Amino acid sequence: MLLVIGMLINACKHEPEVILNSGGNGNPNPTPTNDSVCFSTQVLPLIQANCATSGCHDNITREEGLALTSYSGIMRIVKPFDTGSDLIKEITRTSSKRMPPPPMAALSTESIDLLKKWISQGAKNTSCSNSDCDTLTVSYQAQITPVINTYCKGCHQSSNAGGGILLETYAQVKTQTESGKLICSIKWGSCSAMPKGGSKLSFCSIRKFEKWQAAGFPQ
Ligand code: HEC
Repeated sequence: MLLVIGMLINACKHEPEVILNSGGNGNPNPTPTNDSVCFSTQVLPLIQANCATSGCHDNITREEGLALTSYSGIMRIVKPFDTGSDLIKEITRTSSKRMPPPPMAALSTESIDLLKKWISQGAKNTSCSNSDCDTLTVSYQAQITPVINTYCKGCHQSSNAGGGILLETYAQVKTQTESGKLICSIKWGSCSAMPKGGSKLSFCSIRKFEKWQAAGFPQ
């Protein structure tokens, strides 16, 4: 185990710059109107989830002096309109120097194309106010309960507890999120896919739970 961790840490020390992988949660919506890529809801979450991970390009480790947690940090490896920017070079390498470094998965073609498109549109610091994807500050009351109430509560309350799981209170939702089960279920990964029988939640809704957890479950 220690060996694996050591390898991962070393793997982060590769070449300068770097980046991500949209992984299984694909679906980089919401697509803003008029086909322009939105930095705040599409680019930043993707890079944060894949590159700004602990021990790599987060604010603490800043591997290679690079914190990929903000627009200005990311722009150190992006040249507007140049799809050959370092960011793209690093994520499309075929050698072991590719970022994110093996054994992490490479970014999906869909994600790489999204980043290229953003760069070819000028790599602007756009934010999309009309979406529900502003996940920068997430609290239980403001962002989590609306999702739970809409998509989950009906089947996860004391009178009808699907799988014996309750999602009525802060403590219950926190417990399920902390255990990893809730996020696993809404990402339609290896757990029972939730909401059961429904459509997959939007990329933004899923991100809210991840952000909420990363922030320490603010009430
Ligand atoms: C239509 C009813 C229904 C809805 C809506 C629903 N669930 Fe479930 N949920 C269930 C049932 C039933 C189970 C038990 C496992 C199974 O039957 O798949 C379950 C299981 C789970 C589990 C345990 C999964 C596992 O693999 O152990 C989690 C976590 C969960 N639900 C979270 C949610 C969340 C979060 C939502 C809202 C996004 C949601 N559920 C919406 C019915 C529902």
